[in-house]
Amino acid sequence: MAASSHDRKALFGRLFNYANNGITIAGIVLTTLSALLIVTFMIVELSGGLKHNPYMGLFAYVALPGIFVIGLIEIPIGMWRRRGKLIRQGATEKELSSYPRLDFNDPRLRRIGTLVLGLTVVNAVILGSTSFMAVEKMESVEFCGETCHTVMQPENTAYQNSPHSRVACVECHIGPGASWFVRSKIDGLRQVWHTALGDYSRPIHTPLKNLRPARETCEHCHWPTKHHGDKLRTFNRYDTDEGNTPNYTTLLLKTGGGRLSTGQYGGIHWWHIYSDNKIRFVTGDERKEEILWVELTMPSGEVRTYARDGEEIPDQTTLEKQARVMDCMDCHNRPTHLFQTPAKALDAELDAYPLFRELPYFKKTALAALTAGYATRDEGMAAVSAALTDFYKADYPDLWDADQELIMQAAEAASQAYGRNTFPEMDTDWQSHPNHIGHDDFDGCMRCHDGELMTSDEEHYIPMDCDTCHVFRTHESPAPLDLEAALNG
Ligand code: HEC
Ligand code: HEC
Ligand code: HEC
Ligand code: HEC
Ligand code: HEC
Repeated sequence: MAASSHDRKALFGRLFNYANNGITIAGIVLTTLSALLIVTFMIVELSGGLKHNPYMGLFAYVALPGIFVIGLIEIPIGMWRRRGKLIRQGATEKELSSYPRLDFNDPRLRRIGTLVLGLTVVNAVILGSTSFMAVEKMESVEFCGETCHTVMQPENTAYQNSPHSRVACVECHIGPGASWFVRSKIDGLRQVWHTALGDYSRPIHTPLKNLRPARETCEHCHWPTKHHGDKLRTFNRYDTDEGNTPNYTTLLLKTGGGRLSTGQYGGIHWWHIYSDNKIRFVTGDERKEEILWVELTMPSGEVRTYARDGEEIPDQTTLEKQARVMDCMDCHNRPTHLFQTPAKALDAELDAYPLFRELPYFKKTALAALTAGYATRDEGMAAVSAALTDFYKADYPDLWDADQELIMQAAEAASQAYGRNTFPEMDTDWQSHPNHIGHDDFDGCMRCHDGELMTSDEEHYIPMDCDTCHVFRTHESPAPLDLEAALNG
């Protein structure tokens, strides 16, 4: 049966009548404006204009789509309320609620139908692509590292100077798969909330409690068989005397790795991670700096339990709850957010710029400046730089006159060394975030390898002998290893 033109007019008349209210009109305006803005942002983005601004991304692909959806929701709500009002004003129920008969043989109705369908498709495309853009933005290093600038400054700065500065934050913090993605977004909402309230902890709590197991993330790039053999490493250290006198340690680190099938295996990675040894441990503190008890299960099924003198071995239920299976993170807890100690940060500058070694007492003066407390990072950076220039001006005026440029460079380098590693606003520095690799500044390996953790029959202990982990070629020697002679001799 054909719909009369009266029906059609009645329908549109009624729809317009319903739409004629503040809420619906506001909804239409919001939706239209935000849609136009989103499309504009997308065009700007595609032409390369938005890339490095995390706030713009947030605005374009999170805030605007939010407004767009609010507008869409407002439209029917306004109409529904207006309908209620019309009824209260005495419009007949029949007039209002009888549904019109729609007949798509009518060309005008078809046109309008096509228009509604078309707009729905446009809406879906806008929402779909903005969600995609939003996800892409939120996975970007700019977003993670820069949006909450002060909060993330320490981790982001360390990251930018790390071997992983081209690895996206999400590769380690989320990793592949939908379930971790969703978990991280839920956790992210909580973090945004605390950032907005300003009640986040300073420093950001470490170690992270719900970081994805390291082996699921790190091993995407560092697979087990890739690690094998020893690694020759040299550490140049500088004294705090007038001549910044260097000493050199070169050692062969038994990093190891490998696989049984090739017969090429052994070393540090092999021992704790890649072999069938399983190591569990219980810590006395949250930061895992004090290790009370260690259990080693070997492939033969033999289980060794190491405890400190007088420390009781925890019972099975405590163990199941508290014991942690050792993984990459128990040594590499700072693979990318490494806050160097002032001494090591300055050694790195002296390595990079040998000319600084000629400045008398450079290390001593800079070290004193780097370790003095400052209220903010900017204040600290300025003070470190001033401390050095003031020192040479006052104590070595001739040098200052002759070599001002070098002194200024050295002052700038020391100031940068401070800025890379010390963040007073977030209470973050090398002390709040110790590094577990090695044993020079922190206990690191020696949390277990201190020679005190032993089996109850005292047959076995976790070894501390220097050559367990490395073989010295030179040890704090005044001259660097002559590599050529070492190789030929
Ligand atoms: C190579 C892997 C890796 C990358 C890339 C990475 N992180 Fe991390 N991040 C870690 C690990 C591992 C920890 C946990 C250390 C712990 O729990 O002891 C961590 C910890 C953190 C913490 C907690 C505080 C701390 O220092 O322990 C924050 C915040 C953080 N990362 C932010 C970021 C941001 C922002 C980026 C990108 C700019 C990023 N991370 C990139 C591995 C990574
Ligand atoms: C997306 C790939 C990727 C992931 C994931 C990744 N790394 Fe790396 N990692 C690299 C690359 C690439 C380098 C080499 C950088 C170079 O040679 O300068 C590297 C270097 C390293 C180094 C050597 C650093 C140095 O000073 O030479 C360590 C240690 C390391 N990664 C540990 C980790 C740990 C631990 C994790 C997990 C928390 C991890 N990586 C996750 C890609 C990755
Ligand atoms: C028992 C401690 C320990 C554990 C556990 C450990 N590593 Fe290492 N790793 C080291 C040490 C020590 C080095 C050498 C550091 C140096 O160069 O001074 C190293 C070096 C590396 C390097 C640099 C390249 C190389 O071969 O020297 C990478 C990459 C690396 N580890 C990744 C990992 C990954 C991934 C895991 C987890 C699957 C892991 N490590 C577990 C101690 C450990
Ligand atoms: C959580 C405790 C723990 C930590 C931390 C730890 N280890 Fe171990 N490590 C062990 C245990 C347990 C053994 C096996 C001891 C035995 O042979 O009875 C072991 C064995 C080793 C071995 C093999 C020794 C052998 O007999 O050949 C090496 C090498 C080694 N560790 C190096 C390191 C290095 C380097 C670090 C720091 C980067 C480190 N370990 C950190 C627990 C630990
Ligand atoms: C459990 C393993 C282990 C044992 C045992 C061990 N070391 Fe080390 N040592 C390391 C690792 C790992 C590094 C490299 C640290 C790094 O990458 O910064 C290192 C580095 C060093 C360095 C260079 C430190 C620097 O940053 O200048 C010296 C010096 C050193 N060890 C001396 C010793 C001496 C002396 C002994 C014996 C009393 C010893 N080590 C026992 C694992 C060990």
